[in-house]
Amino acid sequence: MDQNSKMMIFCLFLAALSSPVFAEEWKANVVKSLDALVSSCIVVPCSFTHPKGNLPTSRLRGIWHRSNDRNERIYYEDQTQVLENFRGRTRLLGHLGQSNCTLEMMDVKDHDNGPFCFRIEQALTETKTDDKFSFVEDCVKFRMLPDPPKPTLTHPKTAIEGHPYTVTCSVTHTCPSHVPKLTWNRGTANDATEVHKETHPGNWEAQSILTIIPKEKDDHTEIKCTAQFNGGKTSFTTLTLYVKRTENYNHIIIPTVAAIGTAVIFAVFCILMAKKYKTRIAELQNQEGRSRISR
Ligand SMILES: *[C@@H]1O[C@H](CO)[C@@H](O)[C@H](O)[C@H]1NC(C)=O
Repeated sequence: MDQNSKMMIFCLFLAALSSPVFAEEWKANVVKSLDALVSSCIVVPCSFTHPKGNLPTSRLRGIWHRSNDRNERIYYEDQTQVLENFRGRTRLLGHLGQSNCTLEMMDVKDHDNGPFCFRIEQALTETKTDDKFSFVEDCVKFRMLPDPPKPTLTHPKTAIEGHPYTVTCSVTHTCPSHVPKLTWNRGTANDATEVHKETHPGNWEAQSILTIIPKEKDDHTEIKCTAQFNGGKTSFTTLTLYVKRTENYNHIIIPTVAAIGTAVIFAVFCILMAKKYKTRIAELQNQEGRSRISR
């Protein structure tokens, strides 16, 4: 290989390395589909990248619009340009300057199913918008839930009297900005711990873990976990508690001891009586013998 071809290969190699960097375009990453509880709220995770790194928020215009018409805006900084039906119900939770276009929609209506798309505009000056990009291919669709999901309860089959018993109540939701409240029909707030985690992008699980120490009187009682969602809808699940008594043989020992005791007393009594009668009989026989001799 001569010097020239080596040089060529080196240049090609450099070009291959650097091209993805230069070719990087505006890209948005929006969750494609989410369950939305009617009357509650929903948060759509969204992020984007652009070729020039992070830009100041003031130079960026984020728009969420209906997929069929980019002028049907469901979110925009200037509320007057937002469809009346959505005015005041939508806001960006993320900062555009941090490439975060996460959308929150409150008071979800049955017909708000989308698809809704994110689009960003970059303003070179405060008045002129330039370098407009739209991400129509990155839209979100909602699957409308008229009723909230029921919480699920996980727990050991039986509880043992006097031993801690733990029940976990979990419910799925898509509104991490207003987490559903989980409450129990027993115990105080101190008896429960709360956990909140994202299971898939945009899908969350709220958990409440209750620990109680069951007593004998709790046997066959109900434990109920209620989930209250933003907007007021509720759902619940119950379980019946079966309390096993702690291992204890008193119910066998006491009657046994009593029975044995009674038997012993009775036997002693019988032996004594028998002895008494034996001596009495012997006496009588002696008397009889003596009287026969004397006759
Ligand atoms: C975007 O903003 C939301 C709301 O503040 C936040 O929960 C989320 O973690 C942010 N996403 C990223 C990728 O930083």
